[in-house]
This record gives sequence, structure tokens and C-alpha cells, in this order.
Amino acid sequence: MAHRVADIGDTIDPDADWSLPGWLYTDPEYFDVEMARVIRPSWQIVCHASDIARPGDWHSIDYLGESIIVVRGDDGVVRAFANVCRHRAMRLVEGASGCAKKLVCPYHAWTYGLDGRLTGVPMRGDYPALDMAKNGLAPVDVDIWQGFVFVRLDDDGGPSVAAMMAPYADEIAPYRFEDLRTISPARERRRAVNWKNVGDNYSDNLHIPVAHDGLVRLFGASYAIEAEPWVDKMSGQLVERHSASSWENFYQRHLPPAPHLPDSHQRLWLYYKLWPNMAFDIYPDQVDFMQWLPVSPTVSVLREMAFALPDDRREMKLVRYANWRINRIVNAEDTWLIERVQQGMASHSYTLGPIGASEVCLRSFARKIRERIPEARLHRAPASGWSRKP
Ligand code: FES
Ligand SMILES: [Fe+2]
Repeated sequence: MAHRVADIGDTIDPDADWSLPGWLYTDPEYFDVEMARVIRPSWQIVCHASDIARPGDWHSIDYLGESIIVVRGDDGVVRAFANVCRHRAMRLVEGASGCAKKLVCPYHAWTYGLDGRLTGVPMRGDYPALDMAKNGLAPVDVDIWQGFVFVRLDDDGGPSVAAMMAPYADEIAPYRFEDLRTISPARERRRAVNWKNVGDNYSDNLHIPVAHDGLVRLFGASYAIEAEPWVDKMSGQLVERHSASSWENFYQRHLPPAPHLPDSHQRLWLYYKLWPNMAFDIYPDQVDFMQWLPVSPTVSVLREMAFALPDDRREMKLVRYANWRINRIVNAEDTWLIERVQQGMASHSYTLGPIGASEVCLRSFARKIRERIPEARLHRAPASGWSRKP
């Protein structure tokens, strides 16, 4: 296959004009490598800091076989720990959220402080090998950005959330993220797709006019994309012409002024996708956060939550509902697309496809995958065992 050599900053990438190959979307051995090099070291949102406002409030996130809790200590500090007892590995807490004075294991009642220290062991003298000071909960990296709480399983020296979002810090500031409150707690939906298919589709600009009639009615030709090193931006301005579809029409007519936003953002839908698997959708009326968590090479979980500034206006409540109705259709259209793309990726007939010059977000994502996993350049899966070769 002939490759046109394209310049990507200071390196020449012979594959720059080509998509990631299909086997990366189905192969179990590749999946394990990708989890270790891409997902484990990346930040994952857990909740908003206001969801864990009081000492003892905790939220959890489960992914890649790990369960992580973020908990606010008596000193007000937010910490993250593996949700794993140091005695027999029992889960300490169950569910998505709760509040506890101490974390008491339901198996044999070992007790941990909110700072993770092991503070109580029944029959303490029965464990000759136990050093209490060395058996606190396993800490996990935590990053709080603009009021949102993130964790990561490994540290590969990658950027903080603030560093990733730095190109858009000024644009985001008026939305007052720290003052947002949860209006819809995390909800998970399983999809029969590789996690990359969700992200590829999220920042695929060329499908909008083909596959999303509603977005075309709302935004006309104003839909735009751009790619910064760690974040993609997509946006659309609501058009003046009112849609014939009822919820779109309602949204266009009744979206109330957002006093905290500049004029340019009063009727702007703004999307940011952060490396590698999360995005937030910023509307004048609310902010949605979504991550697509890998389960297996061909299964992912979409974890979604919604936030908004407190606003009791009746029209704001109705407009948020209209927003949900509009995006429910967009989501169904995208689900239909990505499940069929996933099936096509599994076909032996498919290796890789060309990426257009305008598809800057797909290019940026594929480049970062190739940098971390050089085998991602191979058009077909190498013989099994490749990842264990020295
Ligand atoms: S497993 Fe937690 S106290 Fe035994
Ligand atoms: Fe879409």
C-alpha cells in the first residue's frame, strides 16, 4: 500500500494519512497492551467535588477490573484508594456512592480511617506479620480540575487534566465548572463496540451532515472541529431558522439567556474530547460528562453524568429536558453507526482506511496510539505472543 508521507509537527509519520487498522478493534492481545499503555495511565473522571462535599462522602468507579474510591477526609482533602481490603482483598464499599465515618471491611471488620490508614484490626495479636503502618489502603493518583475529580491507575508521566485543557482554559472559565452541581448521577450503558470506536465517532466531523438530521437542523453548516495535542474541540452555533421537529424547535425558541456566558456562547454547543476516552458536552443549559470504558476488545461501557448551575427557572428545566430528548436521538443514531463499524472492523476484508485532511481529530488520536504501541502500524495482527517478546 502506497503511503503519502505527511508532516506531523516535528516528526514524519508514514501512516499519517491512514486510520488505525481493524485488528486493533478486535484483538485480545493488543487489547491488553493498550490497557496497560493507554487506559491505565490516563485520567478518568469519578464525580464532581460537590458530590463528596462532607468528610466521609465517597464515590466509586469500576473499570479494568479495578474498583477505586474517592473519599473526602476529616481534613477536607480528597483522596483516592483501591477499594480493596488489605486483609483478604474484600471490597470495602459497595455501590456508586455513600458516606462513612470510617471504612469498615464487611468481612472481618478491619477498619480504615478516611485518610486510608489502617486503624483497627480485631484480634490484632493474632497476626505476627502485620505492620499496621504499612497496611493502609493502596493510594491511587487523584487530580482535581475545575471541581471535577479524576483518578488514574498508573503514572506514565502524562499531562494533568489542566495541562490537557490548557488551550481552552479561557473559553471554559465563564461556565464556572467549580459551581456546577450534579443533576444526573453517573449512569452506565453497555455497548458491543471497542472503546476506540466510541471516541473515533465522537470526533468524526464528516458523519454529522450524513447521519444526524437533527444536528443539521440545529446547526446548519456551522459544525466545526479542531485538534490540540491532548484535546479535540467540536462546536456548533444554533441557527436562526427554527426546526420543524418539536423538541428542537422548543429548544431553539425557549433556551433562556445564560447570564454567566458571553454573547458568543449563548447559543453555542461545545464539545471537548480529552485523551484518550472522555468528553464533555457543554451547552448553555448544562454540562454532560461521558467516558467510554473498555471492558473487552469488543465491549465498552459508556459512563455518563450531567451537571448544571443551580437555576430554578421553569423554562430552563424544560429546555434541559428538550436537550435530553434531542441528544437521545443523536445517541441512538451514533450507537447504530458504531455497532456496525465494529462488525466491519472484524471482517478479514478490512485492513485500514484513508483519513481525510480535514479529519484532524482522528489523525491526532491515531498518532498518539502509534507512538505508544508501534505494532499499531501493522495492517494485520502479528503472530500471537508478540507482546511478550523481549
Ligand atoms: S478481608 Fe477485610 S477484614 Fe478480612
Ligand atoms: Fe455522531
